[in-house]
This record gives sequence, C-alpha cells and structure tokens, in this order.
Amino acid sequence: MAVGIDDIALFIPRLFVDSADFAMARGLDPAKLKQGLGISKMAIVDTNQDPACLAANACLKLMQRNNLSPHEVGRLYVATESALDESKALNSYVIGMLEQVYGDGSFEHCGGIECKFACVSGSYALYDNANWIRAGESEGKYAIVVVSDIAKYDMGSSGEYTQGAGAIAMLLNDNPRLMQFDPKVTSTSIKNEYDFYRPFGKETPIVHGQYSNLLYLIQVKKAFEAYKKKALETGLIKIRDGETILDHIDYLCMHLPYSNMGKKALSYLLRREWRNLPRWKRIIEQTGMEEPVPKDPRGTIESILADEEYMAKDHEFTKLFTRTKEYQAFYEDKLASSLIASSMIGNLYTASLYLGFRSCLEFEFQKGVDLEGKRFGFGSYGSGSSAMVFSGIIQPTYKEIVKNMNLEAEIGERIKLSLHDYEEIHENRRAPSQSLLDPKNEFVLVGIENSPESKGERKYAFCQ
Ligand code: COA
Repeated sequence: MAVGIDDIALFIPRLFVDSADFAMARGLDPAKLKQGLGISKMAIVDTNQDPACLAANACLKLMQRNNLSPHEVGRLYVATESALDESKALNSYVIGMLEQVYGDGSFEHCGGIECKFACVSGSYALYDNANWIRAGESEGKYAIVVVSDIAKYDMGSSGEYTQGAGAIAMLLNDNPRLMQFDPKVTSTSIKNEYDFYRPFGKETPIVHGQYSNLLYLIQVKKAFEAYKKKALETGLIKIRDGETILDHIDYLCMHLPYSNMGKKALSYLLRREWRNLPRWKRIIEQTGMEEPVPKDPRGTIESILADEEYMAKDHEFTKLFTRTKEYQAFYEDKLASSLIASSMIGNLYTASLYLGFRSCLEFEFQKGVDLEGKRFGFGSYGSGSSAMVFSGIIQPTYKEIVKNMNLEAEIGERIKLSLHDYEEIHENRRAPSQSLLDPKNEFVLVGIENSPESKGERKYAFCQ
C-alpha cells in the first residue's frame, strides 16, 4: 500500500536573534556561528507562545490549506521534547485549541498521544501512523503528526547559540501527493546514554555537546547499516560493484541541531561508505594524507574524544575530505538545499529533520530540478539515544504541494530582537500578556492558572 506524506505545513515564531549580534554580545567571533556552525538566525518564541500553540498553529494551517474537517482526521500525534506536563499530553492542548475554531467536541472521535524520545520521536510517530494506515485501521481517514519544540539552553552555555523554535505538521494518507515511504526498510538503533537530557522540573537540558555530536554520528551509522541490509535484501535498491547504496539515494535529510551538523554527518557516512571502494584512491590522492585511526579503534566514545592526537588528525582529514571534488559534488547535489532553512531558523529539535526536508523540496524546486521519482533518505537522531533511518519516493503529484512553498512568506515579517529583549524572554521575566508582537490569525497563550486546585492550567485564545 502506498503510504506517505501528503502535505506539510510549518509555523515558525517571527521573533529572531541575529547570530552576529549574539556573537558580539557573548564575546565570540561571529564567523564561528556563521561559518563554523552555519547559524545566521535563531527563531525565538514570544512571551505568549509555547510548544502547544506552535503545534496548534501548524496543524490549523495544514487543515485549512487542505479544507480538512476534523471528521477526516483519525489520529493526531504530537512529538516533542518540550512537554508542558508530566501527565497531560500536548495533543490535548492542541485539540482544545483546534476545537475553538472547529467547534466543541469536533475531534472527539480522534485518537493520539504525545511521543517522547528527544529529537527522534517525530520519526517514530510518523512510522507508527504510517503502519496504522498500512494495517487498514484508518477507515480512509488521515493521520496528522505534529513535531513541535522550543530549543532552549542555559544563558552563556555553548548550546545557547544552537537555539530555535517552531512546529511542523504532516498529513499522512494512503495516496500521498508528496512522498511515499519505502516499505520494510525503516531501521533503528537504541542505547541508554546521557549525552543530552532534561530532568523533571528543569527548563533547559544538561548537554555534553561534543559527546552528543559523536554519538549522533555513531547511532545514525548503526541504523544506516541496518537500513542498507534491508534495502539490499528486499531488492529496494540494487548496487553494482564499486557502488554504495548512497549512490542510489538522491537526497539526504539529516537531523540538524545546527545547519553544519548535516555536513558533519554526511562526511562521516561517506568516509565509511567510500573507504572500501575504488574511488577512495582518488580521494586520498586529493587529501594528500591517509585517513587517521584512533589509538584504540574499539574504544569508547570517551576514549576516542580523549585521544587528542587522533581527534586533531581526524579533524584535519575531515576538512581535506570535504574539499575533494567527489564530496563537493555529493554535498551540492544531495544535501546543500536541506541545510538552508536551518541556518535561517535554528534548532527545532523534533522538527529539525522535517524542516530540512521542507527546505530541500523548496530550494531544489526553485533551482528547476524535477523531483518526481527521486529517493529521499532520512537520518533521524534523538539523544538518550536512538536513531532511525528510512526513505521515500517523491510522487508525480508533488508539484501541487511544492510549487506553493515559500519559507519567508510563510514565516511572515520577522522582527529582530535586541539582546536585552531576548534575555528578558529567555529568563521568563515577562508575562504572556507582555508579548512583543500583536498576534494575528494564530493561537496564543493567554494565561496560566496559579490557584492550588487548578495550578498549571493553561488558557489559549485564537486571535483573529
Ligand atoms: N571561525 C570559523 N569557525 C570557527 C571559529 C571561527 N572563529 N571558531 C570555531 N569555529 C568552528 C569550529 O572549528 C567547529 O567547526 P568544526 O567542527 O567543523 O571544526 C565549530 O565552529 C564549532 O566550534 P566548537 O568549538 O567545536 O564547538 P562548541 O564548543 O562551540 O560547541 C556544540 C558546539 C554544537 C557542541 C554546542 O553548541 C552544543 O552543545 N549544542 C547543543 C547540543 C547539540 O546540538 N548537539 C548535537 C548533536 S544532537
């Protein structure tokens, strides 16, 4: 059965911090953020925005654009790592807001849960809902998967420049106009880790940044190995001598905690795929140095990170590798367009991978590339940790969706925050009613109850 993504809508807060202003304020070289990490702007939520209203706004856009009535929606899943409650799922807030527009009880037939596994949970939500449709349980109804997050780190920490916020809503059905998932190849890896976590009651995460970078690469690689095996065994992809499966994947979308992480992931995967192929000889001729090997190749992530000599050499080799014409061609053809939106918006945790997908569609289409029949590969990663690799094929009807994509217009007029206003918002010094922008055609948070019997109850309104 053809199951996949029929349409995709996004909602991004209009406030942003400019990375150059931010770097100056923190005493950093602006080039570190712009060139080193690929960050030019970070979307920041206003005082009256939270992950629930970002999700509801993305969902409303998706439903309005497709003239969907709640009766056509059988499941609404929300994946997030910015949960508002230990018990009440983010879905119920979203349903509550949507019912302000569609009427009380209009979604009561619908099912869904909030999904959590750091940034990878949206991919699990997509997979589970695709299988709900494949199993014939959907009775012709759509599933909606919303990924919504506010990436917020401690002020002054190295995570602070990898912030961002936004939500993406994806419509799934058995006759998708945009992309059909490849069947029986979705693959995962999982391991108990503490690379990034947010204990109960803490608003910002505890992060081991370099550890999380390397763990991401290792976990995605493991899931990719399992994907490769399935893709070859099922006959989905056939390769000839001297080829890698990546030669048969037209576009790659990677989890993007910051834009340049996509480049890191690509070079990590390509080095491991290419090093046993005839083309490696040409690569080494261009790098002029052999690929370094750690002192203890079977060591732990800690031992590899502590092997300073290896890390320095590996860094040098990676730089040379990414300058080879083979890497450059692969990067330009298959990855570059997916990184553009991330550098304009920042980290969206669960939604980052799908922002990359959205970015690739829009910017490749703008270049005039015909995407019909192209295979997209996805590398999803969530700290803690789990990775998922899957793929899909762009459908002949994709133009109906992609021709209207315009990231800047969809975000709307963006307003640059002063560092003072950014810090006021970051430190929660303003109440929801003290928002900087006047909301229009969107759901906003209007207050949070503080009385003992209804403590934490959140009130939302739709502003015309
Ligand atoms: N000009 C240009 N580039 C510069 C620079 C300068 N003046 N100074 C540093 N850089 C480059 C570095 O070379 C490095 O790029 P490279 O890895 O390609 O060589 C990059 O900027 C980052 O600098 P680095 O000092 O290595 O990292 P950091 O301490 O700033 O931390 C993160 C970066 C991503 C680890 C940190 O922001 C973080 O912890 N973020 C949150 C967690 C996260 O995103 N994890 C990712 C996996 S989920």
